[in-house]
Amino acid sequence: MAGGRTGARRRREGRGNGGLPAEVAGPAGAFLELVVRALGLERAALLLESSPGALLVPVATHGVGDLPPCEPDAEPPGGPWTLALPLRSGLRVAGMLLLAPRGGVALPPADVDLAGRMAEAAALLLEHAQLAADLVRAHELLARADRLSALGTLAASVAHEIRNPLVSVRTFIQLLPERLGDQEFRTTFRDLALGEVERICGLINDLLAFARPAPAQVEPTDLNELVAQIVRLLDAEARRRGVVVACMSDPALPLVTVDEAQVKQVLMNVILNAIEACAARGRVEITTRTDESGEESSCVVAVADSGRGIAPEHLEQIFDPFFTTKDAGSGLGLFVAHEIVTHHGGGITAAPRAEGGTVFTIHFP
Ligand SMILES: Nc1ncnc2c1ncn2[C@@H]1O[C@H](COP(=O)(O)OP(=O)(O)OP(=O)(O)O)[C@@H](O)[C@H]1O
Ligand SMILES: [Mg+2]
Repeated sequence: MAGGRTGARRRREGRGNGGLPAEVAGPAGAFLELVVRALGLERAALLLESSPGALLVPVATHGVGDLPPCEPDAEPPGGPWTLALPLRSGLRVAGMLLLAPRGGVALPPADVDLAGRMAEAAALLLEHAQLAADLVRAHELLARADRLSALGTLAASVAHEIRNPLVSVRTFIQLLPERLGDQEFRTTFRDLALGEVERICGLINDLLAFARPAPAQVEPTDLNELVAQIVRLLDAEARRRGVVVACMSDPALPLVTVDEAQVKQVLMNVILNAIEACAARGRVEITTRTDESGEESSCVVAVADSGRGIAPEHLEQIFDPFFTTKDAGSGLGLFVAHEIVTHHGGGITAAPRAEGGTVFTIHFP
């Protein structure tokens, strides 16, 4: 039995059924188990459309072994089946619940009735799973849109940041033939050019890691290092706006178990907001520390700015999707940051500072 279920699921994954929510297989298997037991059946199967108009594919089977996919109007595979109940989702038939009683005898009317209600429940479950999958997908798309928007801001300032050191490297290479005999020129400018090249490489690496993150995975991560990377990436943007960014990292900060790429996106959004909130000669201070005040200790990143502050009537709304007070803002930055942090079991809050400006406090368990 279990073998059939696992086999069906394996084949489903192998065929890459894009339209199916992945989490259906688990609950579907449990559901079939319930149906088989409640109706005293020999076997049962659940077939779903992989996408509208496409083949019906088994998502779970009970006591049948592997079932092949089936054309929508063809005889269901793995028969004979005594009952094939449609799973209706609105006006659409999203799949079939197949039942085979012991010894092939027909089910009594009361059991047929019960099976019909179970098929209705399965269709509802399916709809919920699809809605949940759609919601996850929508969140992923919003996070992606937010990342692209941050990249747009970064691109111009980072390009500028790369051009200047390249000019000094080019000058060194141009002058080299005529200054070949000059020992001091060779060593000083070689070190200088090398330093600039290293800096460009570092910047490009940080940018690529932000633009094309590794697949989602949580692992022990050094928050100080993530802060340093994002500050390096935003350094040019801050200087362009005349804002000083200062980092005060606690060297004893323990590692936190997080998804590095997602946390970088959080830091990017919050620090970029702080830089944008500051007028020229503003200051952004980023502090990391351990907070022992709660029941369990947590790691904290505080981003304080000397900017214009947040109007009290806006404080409630800043984490809402699409809330923005900026002409070209998407209003996604803080929403995505909040989603990511709470998904990690942490929290993010904003508060006014006594001396003016705002402090965002992000904590990870
Ligand atoms: N440090 C801050 N100081 C003052 N206001 C802030 C600060 N951070 C966020 N806000 C307010 O919260 C709003 C929402 O921020 P969020 O990052 O979600 O979107 P945005 O910055 O407006 O747009 P985008 O992130 O796409 O550029 C901002 O428009 C701004 O009004
Ligand atoms: Mg923002």
